[in-house]
Amino acid sequence: MPDPARTRMDALRLVRPELLEMLGYEPIEPVDVLAEELGIPADQIVKLDGNENPYGPSPRVKEALAKFDLYHIYPDPEQRRVRQALADYLGLDSEHIVVGNGSDELLELIACLFLSAGDVAVNCVPTFGMYAFVSEIRGAGVVEVPRREDFSLDMAAVQEAAREGAKVVFIASPNNPSGNTISAAELEAMLSTGVLVVVDEAYVEFSDRSFVDLVPQQDNLIVLRTFSKWAGLAGLRAGYGVFPKGVAGLMRKVKMPYNMNIAAQEAVLASLEDRETLQERVQAIVRERERLSNELASVPFLRGFASKANFILYRTQGIDAGELWRRLRQQGIFVRHFDTPGVEDCIRITVGKPEHTDRLLAALTEIGGSLAP
Ligand SMILES: Cc1ncc(COP(=O)(O)O)c(C=O)c1O
Repeated sequence: MPDPARTRMDALRLVRPELLEMLGYEPIEPVDVLAEELGIPADQIVKLDGNENPYGPSPRVKEALAKFDLYHIYPDPEQRRVRQALADYLGLDSEHIVVGNGSDELLELIACLFLSAGDVAVNCVPTFGMYAFVSEIRGAGVVEVPRREDFSLDMAAVQEAAREGAKVVFIASPNNPSGNTISAAELEAMLSTGVLVVVDEAYVEFSDRSFVDLVPQQDNLIVLRTFSKWAGLAGLRAGYGVFPKGVAGLMRKVKMPYNMNIAAQEAVLASLEDRETLQERVQAIVRERERLSNELASVPFLRGFASKANFILYRTQGIDAGELWRRLRQQGIFVRHFDTPGVEDCIRITVGKPEHTDRLLAALTEIGGSLAP
């Protein structure tokens, strides 16, 4: 009989060494865990830390999932109905489309297809942590190009990295956590270097400019989208990407056959059929974003950044951002605080329903009253 302790050690020695050292992705905690930690009922929690949709999915999603009766059958590995519905929605050929278990999975698949040890990806920080995470898992190097003070891109540095041989540039537009978008001219400048540009449009429905229509004419552009934000399906995991056709075909070849489960597929179809309701909710969130921004403009210890997404980033002054995060948390209000360079003194607030803004405003007024003048 082998000694079990020795067997465990041996297995760890076989792991790729770079993965042993790697920092993991830092996800947010679920509501029930937060409620238990604070000792308050889950329905009293104001959850403004995950950029989720406070209105939830379309009612048609619940009806469709209740009616569906083929849960015991494997879903279509080619996801033809969903891809065709997305193609109709976008006005594109379905051969451009790949769907995934959230857009996170598509990022992982992009890294699988394009990045291995010795390759380099460009990451314009601060940004969504998944780009560095998926690149590092594949053993690729990550060149960090810091954004400017206002979070706009340092285009000269991005182009320089591309000229020096980087393979892929990841860009979120709107960017998480800053909420700003890239311009058509900036995208054009990146594409012209020949690097593969992945534009992550997870929040595009709250903004006014998508680049999805450029994909069919561009060999080196990928646009990713998700149903997590505008359609309220974060828990079901439904993302999609628009790719040059050849790349899309390869992505579908290397993906797991049943990577989008049938409940997520049915939910996507029902959401697309109820676009009107979902778009009304998007409009409500955009209106609430403007209200939140106007109300918080008079909070002396917060300085906000203009946002085209369903969240707003605030730099704190006169109070430590971590301390503000803790004090809001004590009141059952969860926002996001980062300890990454460029945003250590910031909090990111997801736009909720009007009553969530009200609770936040009351808490901020109380905290403001306790600060030394
Ligand atoms: C910029 C960005 N891209 C992608 C995602 C993940 O989306 P999904 O839920 O489709 O995996 C997020 C989630 O917060 C995000 O902020």
